[in-house]
Amino acid sequence: RTLSERSISAVADLINSGKVRRVVVMTGAGISTAAGIPDFRSPETGLYANLASLDLPEPEAVFDLSFFKENPRPFYALAKELYPGRYHPTVSHVFISLLASKNLLHQLFTQNIDCLERAAGIPEDLIVEAHGSFATQRCVECKTTYDDDKMRDHVRRGDVPRCEAKTGGLEGVCDGLVKPDIVFFGEQLPRSFFDRMPKAAQADLVLVMGTSLQVHPFASLPNQAMEYVPRVLFNMERVGTLGSQADDVLVLGDCDTGVRKLADALGWGEELEKVWKE
Ligand code: OAD
Ligand code: ZN
Repeated sequence: RTLSERSISAVADLINSGKVRRVVVMTGAGISTAAGIPDFRSPETGLYANLASLDLPEPEAVFDLSFFKENPRPFYALAKELYPGRYHPTVSHVFISLLASKNLLHQLFTQNIDCLERAAGIPEDLIVEAHGSFATQRCVECKTTYDDDKMRDHVRRGDVPRCEAKTGGLEGVCDGLVKPDIVFFGEQLPRSFFDRMPKAAQADLVLVMGTSLQVHPFASLPNQAMEYVPRVLFNMERVGTLGSQADDVLVLGDCDTGVRKLADALGWGEELEKVWKE
């Protein structure tokens, strides 16, 4: 058996011993690639490598607030592809929902904007959408919220919604750009991220899944855990400081495969497949 397989069974034993009560999970785009949603930074398949057609100064500009205010069209072209409703949760999402149903999930911090955590049935109060989501939207000028159904229509057509809030002026409406409440570069993370950050320090087991840990402040979350707390990485590649501590476990490869191994070691394998197929 490989080192990671021995370690997976050690992690499973720890959970099954009852000593683990607070699992904190930190996720990124890699847990949704199996659902058909591309990640950002994978060299061939990632969104940033495939945005050339959108006429951007650099790929990250698609999520840059000042660029968006100049030219919102590339973002809306992308939003058409990424918009929730077309995709289904992966085995990894369902595994996190099992942690929740077994009262082991202390907090999930996700960078994803695809809403697949909610779709997998993870209770909303256990989810921190650190980079926001497509669930709500508002005007970038006057901050007035914008109707969900109208938003969906605009996104489907790939065109840019504009604020309809009444103003006192001659034109009568604000007409500012409407943007989903996704955290762009140049914007603050939601309060919930900072409010729940102490939960990461309360973890007695950390699972990091499908993220390159390139974007701060999210990237520092795995370092909030106490030093003696085991941290397990399910990812294609080694990232951040994972692997630098004695009890870190690296499960390299696709996360659904790694998660299935852990579920099997826990005796949850059948339940995982059953819930996933529902
Ligand atoms: P990235 O694309 O930066 O990283 C995804 C990570 O998941 C990489 O390390 C991949 O190797 C790995 N990966 C891909 N598919 C996988 C799979 N099936 N199994 C396991 N690992 C896999 O995505 P994030 O870390 O989520 O911001 O990116 C962070 C933020 O950067 C995003 O939230 C986004 C972007 O700018 C916004 O959307 C506002
Ligand atoms: Zn407005």
